[in-house]
This record gives sequence, C-alpha cells and structure tokens, in this order.
Amino acid sequence: MHNQLITGIMACDLMGAIGKNNKLPWNAEEELEHFRKTTVGNVMIMGYQTFAAMPERALENRWNIVFSRTARVQIKENIVFVSSLQEFLILINDYRDHKCFMIGGAQITNLFLVNNLIAEFILTKFKRVYGGDVFFPLHLLENWSYNIISEHKDFIIYKYLRG
Ligand SMILES: NC(=O)c1ccc[n+]([C@@H]2O[C@H](COP(=O)([O-])OP(=O)(O)OC[C@H]3O[C@@H](n4cnc5c(N)ncnc54)[C@H](OP(=O)(O)O)[C@@H]3O)[C@@H](O)[C@H]2O)c1
Repeated sequence: MHNQLITGIMACDLMGAIGKNNKLPWNAEEELEHFRKTTVGNVMIMGYQTFAAMPERALENRWNIVFSRTARVQIKENIVFVSSLQEFLILINDYRDHKCFMIGGAQITNLFLVNNLIAEFILTKFKRVYGGDVFFPLHLLENWSYNIISEHKDFIIYKYLRG
C-alpha cells in the first residue's frame, strides 16, 4: 500500500495547455526558477516524453524516476526507469525519506490523479492563452480545495489539496 505524500508540480495556461511541440508553450524564467527552487534536492517523477523533452534529459541535483513501457537502459546514476505503476510503487519505498514531486506530463498526471497518488498539487496558472497540444486534466482537481501561494505579473501559483 502506498502511503507516501507525493506533490504534483506543473504549470498550465488559462485553458490548461501544458505543452506545445514537446516544449513548454511559454518562456518564463521566473516560473522555472520557482520550479527549480521547490524541487532541487528531491525526487522527480515524470513520463518519458517529459524526460526526452528536457535539454539535459534529467534534472541535475535531483533523483529522476521516469515512466516508460519501453525497456530503457540507465544512463546516469540519478535516473531510474519504471515500466508500470506496480514497479513504481515498489521502488518509491526506497525514497521514503525524500520529498517526491510528480512533474508531468499529461499521461503521468492522469495516471497519478486517477489512482489517488497525489495529496497536494502546486499548480501555476498563466493568465493568458498560449495554445498547445497537451493539456492538464483540470477537471480532476475540481473537488480539491486550494489557496494562492503567490501572484505574479503573468501567472498565479496555487496549492491544491485533495478534498
Ligand atoms: N507545463 C508543465 O508543467 C509540463 C510538465 C511536464 C511536461 N510538459 C509537457 O507535456 C508534454 C509531454 O506530456 P505527455 O503527456 O505527452 O507525456 P508524458 O506523460 O511526459 O510521458 C508519456 C510516456 O510515459 C510512459 N508511460 C505512460 N503511461 C505509462 C504507464 N502506465 N507505465 C509506464 N510508462 C508509462 C510512456 O513512455 P514510452 O513511450 O517510452 O513507453 C509514454 O509515452 C510535453 O509537451 C512537455 O513539454 C509540461
């Protein structure tokens, strides 16, 4: 049984877009800095598309757990691949002393929300529409309570708590 607190952390535009052509739809240094500061030193959980889209293919100074059904060879010490939720739930026990963040993309967000694996979600919402081809499942947070962590010129950072 999984009883670890996993925090989601992502950003979307006004319509829920999170990605466009395998990139972030916006260019927002300040938002990236919030992500970096919040997650550094901790465990990152992500889907293979998100992993592949990152310039360095892994986030530095963080453990990276990457979901992929394809057999993948471990290329760096701080990257581990899991091929199913069952495999993940066993592996995550090894990280029980760490803070764990689910960072996307949409497929892995759906998987974690539908299986009730996320207790809180730090979600940045940009104030305008950028358009995109991958969307955050905002309807899955409908019954969650939330408060504002901080308000910025172009975006607001919310914390959602499972209702
Ligand atoms: N704005 C944000 O906060 C944010 C955050 C993250 C990503 N993004 C954007 O989101 C987009 C990528 O999202 P995405 O939804 O297309 O992909 P994703 O969730 O990052 O990764 C999907 C991949 O995960 C693996 N996977 C999915 N379900 C699995 C399961 N049950 N067991 C094992 N492996 C599983 C598969 O990998 P294999 O194909 O290798 O089997 C699948 O192709 C990009 O545009 C990225 O820039 C945005």
